[in-house]
Amino acid sequence: MPPNPGRRDVLVGGIASAIGLGLLDGCATVPTAPAAAAPSDLVDLSLEVNGQRRALRIDPRTTLLDLLRENLGLTGAKKGCDMGQCGACTVLVDGQRIDSCLALALQVEGRKVTTIEGLARGEELHPMQAAFIEEDAFQCGYCTPGQILSAVALLAEGVADSDGAIREGMSGNICRCGAYPNICAAVRRLRGRG
Ligand code: FES
Ligand code: FES
Repeated sequence: MPPNPGRRDVLVGGIASAIGLGLLDGCATVPTAPAAAAPSDLVDLSLEVNGQRRALRIDPRTTLLDLLRENLGLTGAKKGCDMGQCGACTVLVDGQRIDSCLALALQVEGRKVTTIEGLARGEELHPMQAAFIEEDAFQCGYCTPGQILSAVALLAEGVADSDGAIREGMSGNICRCGAYPNICAAVRRLRGRG
């Protein structure tokens, strides 16, 4: 190990001592990121993001979440679990909420994507953004973009007719800070306003 080991060296060293150095020396492999696509493998993608037409050339394996965050610099959608369990990556596609970590960018070819960056109208917050502030519906804020977009879609779905229905409808969005009562209050505040 080098004199000033990096985090990876420490992790590999820890694994090695836990399972036996011989194993790592021999046949075990450490997972690596997939290789970048060759230029000839890139594909064209056109879609609308927050009202703007975007045309890109991308690796066909790119998820919608990575496209937004890495290709377009829209970091409002968060990568929490990256496997469809937390809702932190929620965005709207043609007005419907989806976990963007589970969708390939190519699946939204030609469609309209809305992220938290596209919800306000200039300086004027979307009513759901304002309701989250009024109800103090966040602490660290990591889950909040996904919560807000999910709440917007939930009201559009027209099924949030009781507190239980709000809790059920928002159950795909996890908040590690436990701001659930305030999040429900924010949705309740707007329910019925049309
Ligand atoms: S990051 Fe997509 S559901 Fe958790
Ligand atoms: S406000 Fe921190 S995770 Fe929800």
